[in-house]
Amino acid sequence: MAAMVNVNGRISDEREAVISVFDHGFLYGEGVYETLRTYNIRLFLYDRHMRRLRNSARMIELMIPFTDKVLARHVSDTIGATKLDGKEAYVRVLVTRGVGELTYDLKATPNPSWVVIVKALVQPPAEIYERGCKVVVVDVVRNHPGSVNPMIKNNNLMNQALAAQQAFQHGAFDGVMRNYRGELTECATSNLFIVKNGIALTPPVECGLLPGITRELIFEVGRSVGIEVREQVLRDHDLFDADEAFLTSTTREVVPIVAVNERAIANGKPGAGTRKLLKAFRDLARGAE
Ligand code: PDD
Repeated sequence: MAAMVNVNGRISDEREAVISVFDHGFLYGEGVYETLRTYNIRLFLYDRHMRRLRNSARMIELMIPFTDKVLARHVSDTIGATKLDGKEAYVRVLVTRGVGELTYDLKATPNPSWVVIVKALVQPPAEIYERGCKVVVVDVVRNHPGSVNPMIKNNNLMNQALAAQQAFQHGAFDGVMRNYRGELTECATSNLFIVKNGIALTPPVECGLLPGITRELIFEVGRSVGIEVREQVLRDHDLFDADEAFLTSTTREVVPIVAVNERAIANGKPGAGTRKLLKAFRDLARGAE
């Protein structure tokens, strides 16, 4: 990993990038973040990521200490300082409460800290798009929206880390998480879709999940290729009995799911609808200005 890091405006390599142990992002996990990537070395859907970052921050009463334009300049300076060797960039933007006394009182942290991490994007192997992946339904329950709302893309990732770790123990690519009512929500690190009778279905945000930017784009891409995309409450059996399934995220685009808990989905091969959406998504993203 050869990352370049911008900490509060100071760019350095990963060994020199430091933040105080009294930062409440470190002490309490209080902060928000975004993961972006480039296509053709241009940030993809920057405005949408900034809109979500600001929404996450608003939900924890955190001030974002820069305008979109100023942050874009910091990000591009950091990308410029990174050796990408012809690869696309992975960009992570974090904003935390900042450094302060050991108290939850917001008055202790008047100055948020911010960090931009840039490194070469590591994409999943091409094979995963051709053959599909396996997921498992994990028993770590997704946060109740009344506790830490999953809509907040926040730096306290214990809920997702535990779910992903359980999935990895089962040799799965990602772990599907249920909510407190037993409905499916999303995967530990991505959003979940199934395809049934030609319609792509994904759990509504009200089930308690992150409104993914890729998920949002799938609604638009679906419209352009004639695949209806809808929100619908889904349960385990919907996934097991699906015609197709796939997951979405910024860094992984659209990954076909072909097995759940060792059981094949349909014929165990990436479905036609999924392949069509993946292709249309890539055409759009790669052609993006
Ligand atoms: N993860 N759900 C969760 C819990 C996620 O962490 C992510 C993304 C998504 C997909 O959102 P988007 O399409 O906006 O990337 C859904 C990113 C990649 C991350 O944590 O680094």
